Amino acid sequence: VTRSFVNLDDIARRARRRLPRLVADFIEGGAEDEATVAANRAAFGHWELVPRVLVDVSKRRLTTSVLDHDLSLPVGLGPAGLARLAHVDGEVAAARAAGEAGTVYTLSTGSSRTIEEVAEAARGAVWFQLYLWRDRDVIAGLVERARAAGYGALVLTVDVPVIGRRERDLRNGMTLPPRLTRANVVDMLRHPRWLAGLVRGSPLTFANFVDVPGRGRSAVELGQYVNVEMMNPSATWEMFSWLRTIWPGPLAIKGVLHRDDAVKAVDLGANGVIVSNHGGRQLDGAVAALDALPAVAEAVNGRADVLLDGGIRRGTDVVKALALGAQAVLIGRPYVLGLGADGAAGVAAALEVLRNELDRALALVGCPDVGLMNRDFLVRSGSGALA
Ligand SMILES: Cc1cc2nc3c(=O)[nH]c(=O)nc-3n(C[C@H](O)[C@H](O)[C@H](O)COP(=O)(O)O)c2cc1C
Repeated sequence: VTRSFVNLDDIARRARRRLPRLVADFIEGGAEDEATVAANRAAFGHWELVPRVLVDVSKRRLTTSVLDHDLSLPVGLGPAGLARLAHVDGEVAAARAAGEAGTVYTLSTGSSRTIEEVAEAARGAVWFQLYLWRDRDVIAGLVERARAAGYGALVLTVDVPVIGRRERDLRNGMTLPPRLTRANVVDMLRHPRWLAGLVRGSPLTFANFVDVPGRGRSAVELGQYVNVEMMNPSATWEMFSWLRTIWPGPLAIKGVLHRDDAVKAVDLGANGVIVSNHGGRQLDGAVAALDALPAVAEAVNGRADVLLDGGIRRGTDVVKALALGAQAVLIGRPYVLGLGADGAAGVAAALEVLRNELDRALALVGCPDVGLMNRDFLVRSGSGALA
């Protein structure tokens, strides 16, 4: 099966066939006009590679180290909520596939499998993603669970003071978790294999909160709790500093686009800055992640690791992000669609495609080590020559 995926687009196409429209749209869609979704991709086209020749590239080194973790390639899996929507094995499958590929999996707070289940199933490093929710006791409880389960880093997502408006989901009657309605029943019934996965085993819900005291336990009640009640538009840097005091391990801030925010985070103790606009799912019209990267990397100036996510679909995209100052990148949709295409094997395939493309790109560009990639390998598109 895996051999038939030539590139990530093949995996996405397979996933679109296997998943109901409302699920595929939930995964692939973004906020409002999806201008930022498009900009994330387009930004890679604004840079061109300038290869160096007659360099010994017979041995290529793809390994890197970020947030105190050694990765076999500079590509990790970012957080994605309710992965069970894409496949019955959800987060467990993604964590296994990442570990087997020698890279990291980031578990979302809004996961459909628990912190403990995923740690148990993982084959390698796992990080845990948090939001600065209203209730500090709830956050502290999650941090303690992540620590006890062995998560190696925290990723604090800061670009969700409120949830972005995703119009595809509104039109499709997509709710978290999804409910069978008159509008979507045909769509769901047309994908019996997916539907069988949905009804099999434990119910699709926000698994980490099933035991929160005083909460209703139904998926709908938990959805309201996670997506509405706990959102905290009043969170400020003070709360970031508080989180820093309760978690001594590696801490990254995700969703930074302005250099001053990156510097502030590092001043307050962040070990990593993830340049991201949430894959265009939050503020539409936000700057493309790749376009925000150079200024952030320059301002951070080696005091923390810099990562990028948003629009990575090719090995050459990874090369460009590294050249502009990232130590590593994260992917979202490519692996969630991999889950939809073929479960753990689909996630493994997505990582293998990127590894293969990155390895070849390094050879062709004349750079034998990801750590040696730099700005000298790039020109602005159309500029014709090194400025
Ligand atoms: C289906 C889906 C769910 C997501 N859920 C979360 C989440 O729970 N927390 C978070 O910080 N980011 C979440 N993201 C954003 C990703 O972590 C990442 O920033 C984004 O997908 C990167 O862009 P890409 O999809 O173009 O690779 C989600 C993305 C997708 C596609």
